[in-house]
Amino acid sequence: MTGTLGQNRQLDDVSFDQLRQLVGLVEHDESKDPFPVRAMDAVVFTVGNATQTAWFYQLAFGMRLVAYSGPETGNRDHKSFVLKSGSARFVVNGGVAPTSPLHDHHRRHGDGVVDLALEVADVDRCIEHARAQGATVLEEPNDVSDEHGTIRRAAIATYGETRHTLVDRSRYTGPYLPGYVAKESSVPARKRLFQAVDHCVGNVELGRMDYWVDFYNRVMGFVNMAEFIGDDIATDYSALMSKVVSNGNHRVKFPLNEPAIAKRKSQIDEYLEYYEGAGCQHIALATNDIISTVAAMREAGVEFLDTPDSYYDDPELRARIGEVRVPIEVLKEHRILVDRDEDGYLLQIFTQPVGDRPTVFYELIERHGSLGFGKGNFKALFEAIEREQERRGNL
Ligand code: FE2
Repeated sequence: MTGTLGQNRQLDDVSFDQLRQLVGLVEHDESKDPFPVRAMDAVVFTVGNATQTAWFYQLAFGMRLVAYSGPETGNRDHKSFVLKSGSARFVVNGGVAPTSPLHDHHRRHGDGVVDLALEVADVDRCIEHARAQGATVLEEPNDVSDEHGTIRRAAIATYGETRHTLVDRSRYTGPYLPGYVAKESSVPARKRLFQAVDHCVGNVELGRMDYWVDFYNRVMGFVNMAEFIGDDIATDYSALMSKVVSNGNHRVKFPLNEPAIAKRKSQIDEYLEYYEGAGCQHIALATNDIISTVAAMREAGVEFLDTPDSYYDDPELRARIGEVRVPIEVLKEHRILVDRDEDGYLLQIFTQPVGDRPTVFYELIERHGSLGFGKGNFKALFEAIEREQERRGNL
């Protein structure tokens, strides 16, 4: 068991310099931060069938199963699978006991993100600050221990039924949390397809974006990175507004979207209707080779949003983008989008929703200096999403 653990550690090793390149990490003085967040700890999902979802992330996203909790380990309520790819950790939970509250969550929201867990050095200091700023504390700071050591944790509420669990794992050496056992993938190991979570986007109700930006500023000490309003994100039919907040070292970035009034139903309205409220819309995964990652994921059956030929054939795009590491014909072949700003460029692509409801989807992103989110692609992207909405009868 320790052998497996050692091996996983090695697989998970992504250096500071790699992260700087992958997600735009910056130096940050934690001592002046009222709520110092180190990194994403985990993206935790509640799904209708965790057994099969865990298999999907291994086969289609190349993730490695590293830990498990379920009836065999004394957890009678649900199964929980922990998957890793580089520094990214997903936890997939599904109810086993018919009375499990996870079934009620799934009935309301379908497959979705319940927890954007954050790694912090001082859980108590963060909770004290959050409480003073009026946050809802869902779990008071407490220690959880097993033979691998002790975790200190707490949780606060964010938009919808989503939470931020705060985890200090500095005194813990186990595979995930106390109660979990190390578990190896039954799927043969393959090349890692992504190395980190770049950003997690929240969709909130009309008129609530600024409320949540203020929440992240005030309660969690996050800073504002970028905002996109009106013409930036408007097509002929639908519109949205977006602002981005991030923690001090830019390791954790949370764009927040709200619908804007437009002629037809926006993609955000569609999400809010099918998720029954605010929730996590997409998770962007940082890769250092988007071409081979997208090729491998397509090979495994992952479906991406289509981008029309006209996007690539537009002379204005070619002029704006300049030199990038692959010829534009290669980007066209893989339907990968490209954007450039004053700091550099990025390559990105978006999957179709991965569950039954038109809610959660993924982005793959390869950054080359750009700290942006692909503003130049918003119009093309939203037109592609609208074509899919139309096919679903939701435009
Ligand atoms: Fe994104």
